[in-house]
Amino acid sequence: MKKRVILMGPPGGGKGTQAKSLTAAMHIPHISTGDMLRAARREGTELGKQADRYISAGQLVPDDLVNGIVAERLSSEKDGYLLDGYPRTIAQADALEAAGEKIDAVVLIDVPDELLVERIVNRESCGQCGAVYHKLTMPSKKPGVCDVCGGALVQRADDNEKVVRDRLVAYHAQTQPLVDYYKSRGLLFHINGNAAVDVVFEEIRKALEF
Ligand code: AP5
Repeated sequence: MKKRVILMGPPGGGKGTQAKSLTAAMHIPHISTGDMLRAARREGTELGKQADRYISAGQLVPDDLVNGIVAERLSSEKDGYLLDGYPRTIAQADALEAAGEKIDAVVLIDVPDELLVERIVNRESCGQCGAVYHKLTMPSKKPGVCDVCGGALVQRADDNEKVVRDRLVAYHAQTQPLVDYYKSRGLLFHINGNAAVDVVFEEIRKALEF
């Protein structure tokens, strides 16, 4: 089983949805820089305050801020992990390599841009456990209430059409170059994310050999 995994893909591509099932099945921690930054923002830390203006504008948070929180977290993870949304720039990938992290696989969930805006503006997430829903295609059983933990469902502040389009621009300009970076290292698995959630999961499961 490949246990040091990077999950990459565009905003709304399904990283969070797949990460929850994958990490439960593989018994490895789910490390999402988006979740970590949002937690810092909720707690009102200095990092959260600095990150807020970038997240709200649909831009990437500067590399030094993100590299710092990931390095601290990975230092305590010796038995594998799934990185969701990190690295997102060549500089972040270089920092990971320089820290001596030996990645086993990079899974790219690919979805055409035209589908992503619709997915994101209809997303709801549980404020307590982070479970992800889609108002139309994957709604919770009871509107506004999480099926998993009963928490309240919320819409992320950066999930509006204007900001999503800016996030897509940042993805293509700054994150997509990582496809060649990891392809040249023989680590990249390309997954079609425009398929049912369980079909996407099965493709990733085969790639990660578990
Ligand atoms: P982050 O939280 O990582 O957001 P993102 O990458 O934009 O991705 P999303 O969480 O929006 O989407 P997802 O791929 O997880 O899709 P999901 O499964 O929810 O980052 C937010 C911000 O933080 C960034 O913009 C940046 O500012 C900052 N940041 C984070 N990491 C950073 C870093 N490393 N460096 C710098 N800045 C950083 O699914 C979306 C919707 O689609 C849901 O409604 C879901 O139900 C639905 N769906 C999922 N799968 C399917 C399917 N197969 N078919 C149909 N619908 C589906």
